[in-house]
Amino acid sequence: MKRNKIIAGNWKMNLSFVEATQLTQDILAQYQNYTNQHTKVMLFVPFVYAQKVAEICAEKPNIYVGVQNMHYEKAGAFTGEISPVMLNSIGVEAVIIGHSERRTLFHEDNELLAKKVKSALEHNLIPVFCVGETLQERETNQTQSVICMQIEKGLFHLSHEEMSKIIIAYEPVWAIGTGKNATPEQAQEVHAYIRNLIATRYSTNIAQNISILYGGSMKPDNSADLLKQPDIDGGLIGGASLKAKDFIEILQSVPQSNA
Ligand code: PGA
Repeated sequence: MKRNKIIAGNWKMNLSFVEATQLTQDILAQYQNYTNQHTKVMLFVPFVYAQKVAEICAEKPNIYVGVQNMHYEKAGAFTGEISPVMLNSIGVEAVIIGHSERRTLFHEDNELLAKKVKSALEHNLIPVFCVGETLQERETNQTQSVICMQIEKGLFHLSHEEMSKIIIAYEPVWAIGTGKNATPEQAQEVHAYIRNLIATRYSTNIAQNISILYGGSMKPDNSADLLKQPDIDGGLIGGASLKAKDFIEILQSVPQSNA
C-alpha cells in the first residue's frame, strides 16, 4: 500500500495579497530544503490570489494549488460565482468541496456538494471532500451515521475511476478553529470507518489507495501523534497554515517510513 501523504493548508478568508505571496514564497523556500519530498503539499487559497500563487508554484514538484469552493456549472448567469473552467484557465489544480463552514454558513447541502464533486472531476480538479460531525452529534452517538450519510450522498454517485481520484478530509466540526483537536484514537476510528465504507461500496483496492486527511486544530505540537495513525494520511490545516514555520513543522512530522 502506497497512499499519498498530503499536508494541505486552508487559508480561508485571510491574508492580504502581499501576505499571501510572501507566505507562498516562505513555504516554497522551506519545502525545498526539506528532504521528505514524497509528502505532497496543497495550498487552498482565496480565489483572488489563486493565479498568483499558482504562478509562484508552477513546475514545483509535489506542490498543488487549490481553492476553497467553486460552482458546478461551466459558465452562465450565476452572479458572484467562480466556475471550474475559470479555475482551469489560471492553473488551479484542486478544490475543497463541502467544508463545514460552507455546509453551515452557506447552507450547502449534500445534493449540491455531489454536483460540485462530479464537476470538479470532469474538469480535472482534485476534490478534497470534507465530512465531519458536530459536538452534539458526537455526544449523541451519531458520528458514524452522520459521516456515512455525508459520504454516501456526496460521493457514492461517482464511478470507480472517479472515486479513485478524490481525497477525503475528516474534520470534526467541534475541532475546527477551537484549539480542541480530536484525539489520535478518535480520528483513527473515524478514518478507518470511512475507509471501510469505501471498501464496501467500491473495492478494497480503491479504499486502500484513497488519502484521508484529518482536519481540526492540527498544530505542530499534536500533528506527529495524529499522523502516526495507520489511516490518517495527512492533514487539512487552517490556523496553523497561515505561518510558514508552523505549516512546515507539521509537514516535517509526517512519519518518514510511510511517506
Ligand atoms: P483549523 O481549521 O486548523 O483552524 O482548525 C481546519 C479547517 O477548517 O480546515
